[in-house]
Amino acid sequence: VAVHLDDLSTPALVIDADAFDRNLATMASVHPGARLRPHVKAHKCTPLAAAQRAMGHQSFTCATPREVVGMAASGMGDDLLLANETVDPVRLRAMADADAMVTVAVDSAETVRAAAANGITACLIDVNVGLPRCGVSPDRAGALADEARRTGLDVRGVMGYEGHLMMVPDRSERLAQVEAAMALLAAAHADVGGEIVSAGGTGTFDLHQRTSVNEVQAGSYALMDTHYGRQGLPFEQAVFVVGTVISRQDDWAVADVGLKALGMDHGNPSVVDGTVWFCSDEHVTFATERTVHVGERVMVVPAHVDPTMAMHEAAWLVRDGEVIDRWPIDLRGW
Ligand SMILES: Cc1ncc(COP(=O)(O)O)c(C=O)c1O
Repeated sequence: VAVHLDDLSTPALVIDADAFDRNLATMASVHPGARLRPHVKAHKCTPLAAAQRAMGHQSFTCATPREVVGMAASGMGDDLLLANETVDPVRLRAMADADAMVTVAVDSAETVRAAAANGITACLIDVNVGLPRCGVSPDRAGALADEARRTGLDVRGVMGYEGHLMMVPDRSERLAQVEAAMALLAAAHADVGGEIVSAGGTGTFDLHQRTSVNEVQAGSYALMDTHYGRQGLPFEQAVFVVGTVISRQDDWAVADVGLKALGMDHGNPSVVDGTVWFCSDEHVTFATERTVHVGERVMVVPAHVDPTMAMHEAAWLVRDGEVIDRWPIDLRGW
């Protein structure tokens, strides 16, 4: 029996299969094969990663050891990068023991030692290109690479995530800033050596033509959110949280999609055909020009895709209103 979108219990995480397919095709045409190292943190879903792999991308970026181990267990362990730092011996060992080629980011003597001591064999030197998060300063990258090699790690190259530039509104300004940041990464790479220069995200995916970056770590492009939707990128909104109107009062309606079903760090979600007033734990309160009725379905568009995905157990893949698959969000946790 065909399951329709309207049959799902809500809140329900829904992926528009056609928009998703177009997003994957658009990205693969710009960054085919290994030029893209899709970041699974954006979706935490192995069936979705398998769709990216079917587009030709066999190497993946992960943010947590759990993502690495889960990808390996799903047979997608050809080349997994933990683009993040960890000193946890148990999790490092779990990644080392996984059926995968695992590379971890390092930015300190401590992270180098922890990786080498727990069975990891390869690393990238994580370089600070302006985002005050992880990453060694460019002038210390070469010394850290020497240290990593002394411990026996294979230093495959560098990464440098320009996350602070994703939302620079003007494209030419964004391009100039990305090129300046990537000059820092190139200088570090000259001292570090190795094949890989890894950087980038959805907001800068097409700004690396003149940089030395040879793989882009974009993730959000596959599903998108309203935050990235404002940037004029060639990707479509492909994920929604479907809600049911549970109350209708004077000027407003209330649906059952609250902040426990949405990543809220980029602000309120949007409601198709409505204006969101606010979210509370289990509710979104919104106004509409037309009259909505209790029991009606509404499409809520998340402002930030990554944390939204992580709040749901599964996503429903929908084509022409019909549910065609259930994809578990199986890489949650750490
Ligand atoms: C290390 C790293 N690389 C790449 C990305 C790119 O992700 P997105 O495509 O969602 O901008 C992120 C996102 O936070 C990240 O942390």
